[in-house]
Amino acid sequence: MEFYIDCGNTELIRHYINNFNLKGITCNPTILIKDGGTIQEVLDTAPEEMELYFEVIATDHKRMIEEARLLSSLRKSITVKIPATPEGFIAIRELAKEGIRTLGTAVYSVQQALSAAYNGAKEVAPYIGRIDNMGFDGVKTALDIHRAFTVQNVDCAVFGASFKNVAQVNEVLINGVNKVTLSTDLFEKYLTDANGIRAAEDFKSAWKSAYGTEHLFISR
Ligand code: G3P
Repeated sequence: MEFYIDCGNTELIRHYINNFNLKGITCNPTILIKDGGTIQEVLDTAPEEMELYFEVIATDHKRMIEEARLLSSLRKSITVKIPATPEGFIAIRELAKEGIRTLGTAVYSVQQALSAAYNGAKEVAPYIGRIDNMGFDGVKTALDIHRAFTVQNVDCAVFGASFKNVAQVNEVLINGVNKVTLSTDLFEKYLTDANGIRAAEDFKSAWKSAYGTEHLFISR
C-alpha cells in the first residue's frame, strides 16, 4: 500500500515527509498554481529517492513528448503524467519506446484507462471524486479498471486520485488498489479519528486521576 499527497506547497510537503511514511508527491498544473509552488521547489524539497509525479501542460502529442522528456530528465524518480486523450495515447506510446515512465491521468472511464495502458502507461489515475460529481460512481470505475487490468493481465496499476472523502479511499484500498494520492486536507481527515484521540485522552486522564501523574512508570 502506498500513500501520496497531491500537493505543491513545500511547507506541507516537508511536514508530511517528516511526520508520515509518505511514498511520494503528485502534482498537476492546477495544484501547483493553487499551492503557489514550482516544479523546482518540489524537487528541492523532496528527497532524491521519493517518487514524484509531474504533469505536462501541452495537449498535442509533440509538445507532450517534449515536456515529458524534459520532466523525466530532471530526476530518475519522476513519472510523467499524461492526460488520457487521443493525443496523450500517441505521446504515451512514443515515450514508452524511449523508456520514459508515464501515468495516464484525467481518467474518467474504463476505456481511457485501458487505452493508456495498451499504449504503454505503467499507471492510470481515475479521478474518483470528479466522476462522482458527474453523477457516476468513481469508486466503481476505479475498481472496474483494476479488475480489467487483472483479467487482461495488463502491466498497469491503478493510482486512485481526486478523492473527496475518506470512504472512497478506504473502498478502493480494501478492493485491491494499492496506490492513492490525497489532498492534504483529506489526508488530515484520514489520519484523524476523533474517537481514537478521545480514547487516548481518556486513558491519560484516568491514569492521572488514579496516580496523580502522567508518568507511565510509578514508584510505590
Ligand atoms: O490527483 C488528482 C488531481 O489531479 C485532481 O484532483 O481534486 O482536482 O479533482 P481534483
